[in-house]
Amino acid sequence: MKDLSAYKADPDPIEIASRDEIQALQLARLKWSLKHAYDNVPMYRARFDEHGVHPDDLKSLADLTKFPFTVKNDLRDNYPFGLFAVPREQIVRLHASSGTTGKATVVGYTKNDIDVFADMVARSLRASGTSAGDIVHNAYGYGLFTGGLGAHYGIERLGATVVPVSGGQTPRQVTLIEDFKPHTIMVTPSYMLNILEEYHRRGLDPRDCSLQVGVFGAEPWTNAMRQEVEDAFDMHAVDIYGLSEIMGPGVASECVETKDGLHIWEDHFYPEIIDPETGEPVADGEMGELVFTTLTKEGLPMIRYRTRDLTRLLPGTARSMRRMEKITGRSDDMMILRGVNVFPTQIEEQVLATGGLAPHFQIELFRAGRMDAMRVFVEAEPGSANEAGKNAAARMLSKRIKDVVGVSTEINVADPGGVARSQGKAQRVIDNRPKE
Ligand code: DLL
Repeated sequence: MKDLSAYKADPDPIEIASRDEIQALQLARLKWSLKHAYDNVPMYRARFDEHGVHPDDLKSLADLTKFPFTVKNDLRDNYPFGLFAVPREQIVRLHASSGTTGKATVVGYTKNDIDVFADMVARSLRASGTSAGDIVHNAYGYGLFTGGLGAHYGIERLGATVVPVSGGQTPRQVTLIEDFKPHTIMVTPSYMLNILEEYHRRGLDPRDCSLQVGVFGAEPWTNAMRQEVEDAFDMHAVDIYGLSEIMGPGVASECVETKDGLHIWEDHFYPEIIDPETGEPVADGEMGELVFTTLTKEGLPMIRYRTRDLTRLLPGTARSMRRMEKITGRSDDMMILRGVNVFPTQIEEQVLATGGLAPHFQIELFRAGRMDAMRVFVEAEPGSANEAGKNAAARMLSKRIKDVVGVSTEINVADPGGVARSQGKAQRVIDNRPKE
């Protein structure tokens, strides 16, 4: 793999401070954040009052569990600006979710919020092995999505050179990588596979390209996918996590020297893991739903926001800030087949482990009699696109999913190019079950 030994991480002092120092800062900031939300957002005031809690009741970090949760529907119910904690004139930027599954959710940032956002993305980039002066190809989508602009400001804050390509137009992506020779690419992992495909289409060896680091996020991806991309490009692949409601990209990020999960930037975001069924907090190390409280956000403070992302908290390694394990999936994406819980990431691992298959896949859910069933669409690699090769791959994948994941599936192996390609976040699951 390309050598990054000359790279100096240069973390902010707080990233490597003692746990006591980090917790003292968190407590002071948490007190401010609860009061800010209570004083300025009618929903928080009403809800805290209903629960019989007041910001003054927070004496220790553990007291946070006395406060009520916030959920995505609260943003929808207060659409568009009802949860803003500052006069609208102080909001300098809006972002919004696409709203494909319901009303869009709108988020707003003050000038200070944008500053913190840029700092956290710059910090994430430093952790990834990117330095001031490097060229960064930014293929996250620009627009209402937080990915493009969020990454953009962070790249500039770091002092790197940003190439604001946005998503799509894959041939142009490759031309620009070849011509501008970026050190780092920021893009969804599924779209990186399209870029890889375009390299092959042109007869170029991706291992010869300039890229040394990929900062991949915005969707779940596995360590098997990391290996696939690192081998294909001879580059380092690190994970970046975030969500619009809390900020955008750069809530947590992986360090290139360890690649062992994502350090949560705990000076600005306070994490908890809860049991998604009961809402009870679970201990560090146990799996559950990730919950965040913002510690410094002015425009849109979020108190105990339920992300629906499933992971667990781990102690710090390369930084003192705690890590979250690579996300298994969202509770919304969990499929239940004959009583077995299945996530798309489990299918990804098996597709990548099966010879003769390209790394693209989609899952269809349908109804077979009274049971839910799953069909996995994959495609043959160019060298294995004959009937015998496709049948062998289908049998192998079906057996792997049965043995490792524990469910029976139909496998459909298409010719190369037969599975829909992502332009940003991949759509892994197509739900064709009848609506009840
Ligand atoms: O996807 C922010 C982002 C942009 C993160 C670019 C990283 C890079 P949303 O569109 O609000 O924001 O979607 C947030 O995406 O709750 C997760 O379910 C998922 N997600 C984001 N990053 C990761 C990741 C952006 N690294 C939702 N691994 C989150 C797994 C991720 N899932």
